[in-house]
Amino acid sequence: MEDVQSFTDSGANVETWILEAARDATPPAPAPTRLGRIVSISGLSLVAQIDPETCGAGGTAELRKGEIVRMHCGAHRVFGMVTGLSIPMPENDGRAELYLAEIELVGETTPESNGRFNRGVSRHPALGEILFLATPDDLETIYNFSCGAAIAIGTLHQAEDRRAYASVDGMLGKHVAMLGSTGSGKSCAVALLLRRLLDRHARAHIVLLDMHGEYAAAFPNRAEVLTPQTMDLPYWLFTADELAEIIVGNRDAGAHADEAILLLKELIPAARRAYAKTIQFPEHLVMLDTPTPYALREVIRLIEEHMGRFDKSQPLIAARWLKNRLETLRADTRFGFMFGGITVRDTMADIMRRMFRIPVDGKPLTIVDLSGVPSEVLNVVLSVLCRITFDFALWSRGEHPILLVCEEAHHYVPADPKSGFEPTKNAVARIAKEGRKYGLSLAIVSQRPAEIDPTILSQCNTVVAFRITNAGTRTSCAA
Ligand SMILES: Nc1ncnc2c1ncn2[C@@H]1O[C@H](COP(=O)(O)OP(=O)(O)OP(=O)(O)O)[C@@H](O)[C@H]1O
Ligand SMILES: [Mg+2]
Repeated sequence: MEDVQSFTDSGANVETWILEAARDATPPAPAPTRLGRIVSISGLSLVAQIDPETCGAGGTAELRKGEIVRMHCGAHRVFGMVTGLSIPMPENDGRAELYLAEIELVGETTPESNGRFNRGVSRHPALGEILFLATPDDLETIYNFSCGAAIAIGTLHQAEDRRAYASVDGMLGKHVAMLGSTGSGKSCAVALLLRRLLDRHARAHIVLLDMHGEYAAAFPNRAEVLTPQTMDLPYWLFTADELAEIIVGNRDAGAHADEAILLLKELIPAARRAYAKTIQFPEHLVMLDTPTPYALREVIRLIEEHMGRFDKSQPLIAARWLKNRLETLRADTRFGFMFGGITVRDTMADIMRRMFRIPVDGKPLTIVDLSGVPSEVLNVVLSVLCRITFDFALWSRGEHPILLVCEEAHHYVPADPKSGFEPTKNAVARIAKEGRKYGLSLAIVSQRPAEIDPTILSQCNTVVAFRITNAGTRTSCAA
């Protein structure tokens, strides 16, 4: 106290002294490394001539693809990513060579943004503008989500001592596509992202369509794993078209298949109404595809009744074929998860509660292991799953936000209009177009983005690109 008194008494300015002391204590930020200057600008793409003494032979700075660079436009600080490097006219001795870097602009900080990084640029750098390597502080500014809803997913490629974060809103508030060649690490990244998400949101609702049965091991105790042995997807949930696909499928059913399906569509509403009567459900609300239970044996009984009538409007052979197919399906143990129930036990609400984890009960993730589902019914099962996911989101009016992860999506939402099953494509397309309104987000994971229905992929506003070796695939990802 005495010292301070004597200091002030000496007439010195205390404030200046404190500021100077603070400045002495913080080492000045290192000056950014100059890389070269801009020599071409076209849209968001730039070309920079790189100083050979900095990055050329014998230079100290290493400029690599993926590096973040910065430029100044007045008070704006513009950032770009190096997408290509070249020496257009190489010489044997390496002297006086021209080094070029292709740069894609990614975002900026402006005086109005208070140092916050924003995607997109409002001002382009001028020709001849100096190019710098982004400093560690710049990287912190660009990749720093840690203050908001973000999950740590690894370290930055450009600075391995810094954590990399993914924005939860960016991932879940929009549909996301995770695209990359086979073996590039998509499934591992999905598992990591889901684990981090569940660490933060233990009461989330996530449904993962697992085509190869590879995820259960990554979520011990945190996931409800549904396999054909434990799954309950009763036939009465199916629309008439889905049921027809199972009954007829690709087999050569002959001309009577169409007649059989017509007969089925005539009898299902009658069977649904018969069951509705037993539970006092208003019969007039029951239509062909109303998801109310009915007994398959009632449909079989109605077919027999039809066969016994004299005034048959349908040929007898089609009715007999249909009855045989339904009985075969009921007896086939591979289809037990669809046709196994002898009695109607559940309602739509029971099935949805189990599927979408209401209540969560410590297991917020539902892994639907589809590896054991017979291939001839896989597309129909996917159609039913995607359809009821959308219906659940719609009926709950977004009260329970859901993330639906579609692994190997190119198999069931193919771009080729002739392949795939139309109702499955429609169900996924509906989620892609309208799901977000009801809190339903989609994550499309695929190794063949060029083969996915482009209307679905175009709805994915967040794209996570992994290693892509095929040039055609790269082009479709860029689009
Ligand atoms: N970050 C990583 N570092 C090192 N190895 C990894 C990483 N991510 C994944 N791998 C390994 O790469 C291999 C392939 O990973 P993964 O199954 O996730 O690829 P994928 O893109 O899903 O392939 P596919 O398209 O065939 O399903 C696995 O053996 C995995 O252990
Ligand atoms: Mg995979």
